[in-house]
Amino acid sequence: MKRTFGLLALVAAAVVVPSVASAQHAYVGVKACTMCHKSEKQGQQLAIWEKSKHAGAFTTLTSDKANEIAKSKGLTKPAAESPECLECHTIKGGPDGADPKQGVQCESCHGAGADYKAMAVMKVRDNAVKGGMVVFADKAAIEASCKTCHNEKSPTAKPFNFEERWKEIAHKKPAA
Ligand code: HEC
Ligand code: HEC
Ligand code: HEC
Ligand code: HEC
Repeated sequence: MKRTFGLLALVAAAVVVPSVASAQHAYVGVKACTMCHKSEKQGQQLAIWEKSKHAGAFTTLTSDKANEIAKSKGLTKPAAESPECLECHTIKGGPDGADPKQGVQCESCHGAGADYKAMAVMKVRDNAVKGGMVVFADKAAIEASCKTCHNEKSPTAKPFNFEERWKEIAHKKPAA
């Protein structure tokens, strides 16, 4: 049963965010993004992410509460070592190049960055997408990507109101 759930999660992620699923791009971690995406002019992505619960998502798995949940689900390892918990609390697809302790980070949503983070690539959107950057067609696509983790497979699942939750983490560049 658990295996089936894991597979379903993978299939769902593959449908919604295809570039994340293609694991040929390596993860580079938050600092490799925020060297360019942190100023007020850029939209303060670093500060907004640091304040969000996403930044602490791995640390949450080291709590007593998390270990109790893991135990009650019959897992034999602590939560922070169980793939069944890590799959939503850190980057999907493995920690190559990025520290899993960064929790849910830039690349969890935007795709593994090794092949698009260079300025020359980033400046040309189409090239960034070719390099693995995930783009969202519309609001519905964004909501669907959130729901690859915000769903009933979370042992502590709460109802997910997209409009409200999005406001809590929105990190847009101010209009010039
Ligand atoms: C060397 C600087 C640099 C680095 C490093 C960098 N970016 Fe960018 N990024 C840019 C520039 C320049 C743009 C073009 C838009 C702009 O001027 O803000 C951009 C645009 C973007 C966009 C908007 C794309 C769109 O058009 O919808 C996203 C999302 C993004 N970057 C995410 C990331 C992530 C995630 C990382 C780390 C893996 C990263 N960037 C690393 C400079 C950078
Ligand atoms: C890779 C999995 C993943 C994705 C994708 C994801 N989240 Fe989360 N999110 C989490 C986890 C895990 C937590 C809980 C972190 C904690 O409490 O330590 C969380 C917590 C939050 C919180 C804090 C409120 C709460 O319920 O505790 C907000 C707000 C949020 N997410 C919004 C979003 C939005 C909006 C999107 C889509 C744009 C999104 N998330 C996509 C995994 C994810
Ligand atoms: C929970 C998912 C999630 C996380 C984590 C996240 N982003 Fe985003 N980001 C989004 C979404 C969704 C958008 C909006 C895309 C759109 O409107 O098409 C966005 C937009 C952006 C943009 C474009 C902003 C603009 O002016 O339009 C940049 C740049 C960016 N993110 C960089 C980052 C960086 C850097 C980090 C890490 C510090 C990060 N993001 C973390 C989901 C996320
Ligand atoms: C399907 C994705 C997903 C999986 C799998 C998952 N989580 Fe989470 N977790 C989340 C999200 C999203 C949140 C934010 C709250 C929510 O569920 O809306 C969260 C929040 C939490 C919290 C903080 C919430 C609170 O009320 O204190 C704990 C603790 C936690 N998870 C433990 C675990 C453990 C332990 C496992 C493994 C047995 C696990 N999670 C597996 C997505 C997931």
